[in-house]
Amino acid sequence: MEKIKTNIKGLDVLLGGGIPIHNNVFICGGPGTGKTSLSMEFLYRGALNGDNGLFLSLEEDTNSLIDNATSTFTKWSKFNQLIKEKKLVVLTQESYIHVDMPETGVSPYYTFNKLYDKINETIEDHKTKRVVIDSASILNLFFTDDLEYRRTLLNLLRDLKKKGCTALLTAELQNVNRETVRFAIEHFVADGVILLYLLEQQERRISAMEVLKMRGSEHSKVLTPFKITPNGIEVFVGERVY
Ligand SMILES: Nc1ncnc2c1ncn2[C@@H]1O[C@H](COP(=O)(O)OP(=O)(O)OP(=O)(O)O)[C@@H](O)[C@H]1O
Ligand SMILES: [Mg+2]
Repeated sequence: MEKIKTNIKGLDVLLGGGIPIHNNVFICGGPGTGKTSLSMEFLYRGALNGDNGLFLSLEEDTNSLIDNATSTFTKWSKFNQLIKEKKLVVLTQESYIHVDMPETGVSPYYTFNKLYDKINETIEDHKTKRVVIDSASILNLFFTDDLEYRRTLLNLLRDLKKKGCTALLTAELQNVNRETVRFAIEHFVADGVILLYLLEQQERRISAMEVLKMRGSEHSKVLTPFKITPNGIEVFVGERVY
């Protein structure tokens, strides 16, 4: 099975070589665990190697997303250039909701369909290979019932696969405790799940991750510490958290 290297330091070792091509992987964690940063780095490293990327942010506007990434990853010299060249495209609510759209009486389905069209258009225009949706939890808010959300999510994932995209989707973890983590719809429909934690250790917190599942791969099942550095995320394979 062909695998896509994330080229994030240490992560491909945990993944058993990378993410199987055309698969979708959920990056789940509590607030501030690094979901957005890890997803952005997946696109950045891809774009550096010729894989065009699409970052769909449902949480932040384009400027703050780019500003945050730039101030976290200060050593990414080519980041702004890749955005300028549209090798890395950022889509946010402002890019698909038209200003002339009436403010009231707009059904969430209408909004979702606009979003869906915009995703497809971007993938075709830019021959996108890697897609990030940040976050699937916000996508859930477009729907009033869970069944509808699940069905739509499945369709979206199937579509991305058909178009030849490998996708990362972020999701809030219901319970940030490793022992009592509750599994959500996303964990079952996804090809892969990576969990991110901020673990309490005496007076400070340290970042750690584990690969919960990765269909078709022999991956690590060890909770592994990582750090966000100005160069990118660094996963300390072989090191223990406790
Ligand atoms: N330069 C840096 N060096 C180390 N850590 C950083 C740096 N910049 C940001 N961080 C850490 O990264 C965290 C934010 O990461 P990120 O936004 O990717 O998390 P998230 O899981 O997407 O959060 P949210 O739940 O708000 O969406 C910050 O809270 C901060 O602790
Ligand atoms: Mg985020």
